[in-house]
Amino acid sequence: MSLQTGWETDWHIARACLEWQVDMGVDEAICDAPLDRFALDPAPAPKTAPKPAPQSPAKAAAAPAAPEVEIDPVREAETMATAAADLDALAAALADYPHCELKLGARNLVFSDGRIGARVMIVGEAPGREEDLRGRPFVGEAGQLLDRMFAAIGMGRDHPDMAQALYITNILPWRPPQNRDPSPEERAMMRPFVLRHIELAAPDILVLMGRISSSTMLGSNDGITKIRGQWREVAGRPALPMLHPAYLLRNPAAKREAWADLLALQARLRTSS
Ligand code: URA
Repeated sequence: MSLQTGWETDWHIARACLEWQVDMGVDEAICDAPLDRFALDPAPAPKTAPKPAPQSPAKAAAAPAAPEVEIDPVREAETMATAAADLDALAAALADYPHCELKLGARNLVFSDGRIGARVMIVGEAPGREEDLRGRPFVGEAGQLLDRMFAAIGMGRDHPDMAQALYITNILPWRPPQNRDPSPEERAMMRPFVLRHIELAAPDILVLMGRISSSTMLGSNDGITKIRGQWREVAGRPALPMLHPAYLLRNPAAKREAWADLLALQARLRTSS
């Protein structure tokens, strides 16, 4: 266990207090007297590149003012992801990426699990509470169901036979607060990292686990119940959208469709080996 100090400790204590309040049923934050925070806080300034150091009056008169450059978080993600030469470098690039505020509230960066070199790479949504605590994807209740689903077709994240092994990641490496859906901006800025992750892990087949993963990687808003089981292409590889195990926990009747998709995956692996 590591000992945390300073703002990190305060932050985790504050979050634990907040989670306790939510567990107790608190669903609104109010004071005795109303506070108009819009009147108190000036509008947040748009993100811009740091301003240049002040110049002497003579120089300033001579040189035209440099235009303020708006930072594009997606372009910066593309640059950082492309520069990563291997998976370790990609994980380091994610850790250094400054534009996703989810990382401030997460305990761990959850990068991947399973065997590098596996034929099948699963792309999930985002870490939940268990994953955030343990730093590994799909280790909570939904993850346990995922393991059972793939075990039913003889596959597993630690399978000793590489042909039966899985490699697992998520669109987001940080847990969103209260497991909320990641925003379109958060998904867009993480997509270049996922594409590079796929390139470096080089699987034969991708499984897009659930609505968020499928819509982020396919760039489409078609519902997951409509597109599940339909082969698509992502980064030049066959990609199969499937129902997320968390959805299956809530809708056990849909396990029939998930089973059909697992069999389709197994058949594709056999014909393309
Ligand atoms: N759900 C996901 O999509 N990913 C995880 O890692 C855990 C739950």
